[in-house]
Amino acid sequence: MSKPKSDLRLLPGVDSFIDRRTFLVSLSKAIGAGSCALMFGNWPKPLYAAGQDNGHGTDGVPLRKRSAAKGLLFGGAAGYGTLSSNTDFVKLFAEQCAILVPESELKWARLRPAPDRYDFTQADWIAEFARKHDMLLRGHVLVWHDALPKWFSEVVTPKNAEKIMLEHIKTVAGRYEGRMHSWDVVNEAIASWDKRPDGLRNSPWLKLLGPRYIETAFRAAAEADPKALLVLNQNHLEYDTSGDEATRTSVLRLLENLKKRNVPVHALGIQAHLRSDETRFAPVKFRRFLRQVADLDLKIMITEMDVDDQKLPADPGSRDRIVADKYYEFLSAALAEPAVTSVITWGLSDRYTWLSSYKPRGDKLPVRTLPFDTDLHPKPAWHAIAKALDSAPKR
Ligand code: XIL
Repeated sequence: MSKPKSDLRLLPGVDSFIDRRTFLVSLSKAIGAGSCALMFGNWPKPLYAAGQDNGHGTDGVPLRKRSAAKGLLFGGAAGYGTLSSNTDFVKLFAEQCAILVPESELKWARLRPAPDRYDFTQADWIAEFARKHDMLLRGHVLVWHDALPKWFSEVVTPKNAEKIMLEHIKTVAGRYEGRMHSWDVVNEAIASWDKRPDGLRNSPWLKLLGPRYIETAFRAAAEADPKALLVLNQNHLEYDTSGDEATRTSVLRLLENLKKRNVPVHALGIQAHLRSDETRFAPVKFRRFLRQVADLDLKIMITEMDVDDQKLPADPGSRDRIVADKYYEFLSAALAEPAVTSVITWGLSDRYTWLSSYKPRGDKLPVRTLPFDTDLHPKPAWHAIAKALDSAPKR
């Protein structure tokens, strides 16, 4: 594998974040005419030719440093397999990221091979890795409907569920006490499509314990690690669609309720898995939502950002531009809200992204969803994030 480019100044970046309305109008026209690739033909190619001045207001300063200058944290998720095998990636990750999220190593399915056994080998390795590389560590996740071990449904009953959940939180959050910047205590608690009046997902935890499982989990996490920032992490919050609107409303109601009951919840995590074919993003409406969350005296973290490219044209240049524009559009709206403290991408390089299997392209081309390409070179998405960080008000 080629080495990561250490001097980003030699690379061309995002040429312009063109006026959104012009962009959307021409995009819809181009898609209508089936000629997206043609439309983006004006953008300079090749993207990564060396020796050109960047000229787009973003120099080679790593995202870690640019975010720190604004009182923000930039970071990424990564897995044990990647971090323990690719030294070029490790170098890049440590250079760019101030905070690391173990991508799956802290999930029940990975930690709990049997009801009476924990396996912390990989999670501990990542915690030590973060310390060695001077990165903050973020816990993902204590209570989720997904990634539960096979034995869960056979062993856990309404009678023992609370005990098992409390024991898990005490053991896992307790093990890393004082070492976690933050914990996703409950993940994806809201699912509007389950059609409950309170918006709660009809998850195993809800079925076993009722809606109180959320409060119980947060109280247990606070006891196990009093210093960690405790986060309610949620997907489907970003777009101006009836589904996402319902999720926002339910999340606000849930957070209000938790705050009223003095439950130790400190932040909302907005996953931000963005869809490149979705144009219904309403920055003003979204910012209003962020303000409402902030008014509850809560912080906000962007926790799992990426942009899928499943439906985009094959041409890498066109794809990269559209993906970059999505990063910029979302982040410039989100970072205008001072309660937003961090931007975390779900992966850092296209070489290692869950979207390769979760949202593969029909034409089988490798996906181009993250700030760095498969050879660890920065893409327009990197410049988009850099530019959004540079334009953010200082915290
Ligand atoms: C994903 C991981 O990236 C994959 O490697 C794994 O196979 C499945 O889970 N929302 C979340 C994350 O909260 O935990 C998910 O991570 C991606 C969606």
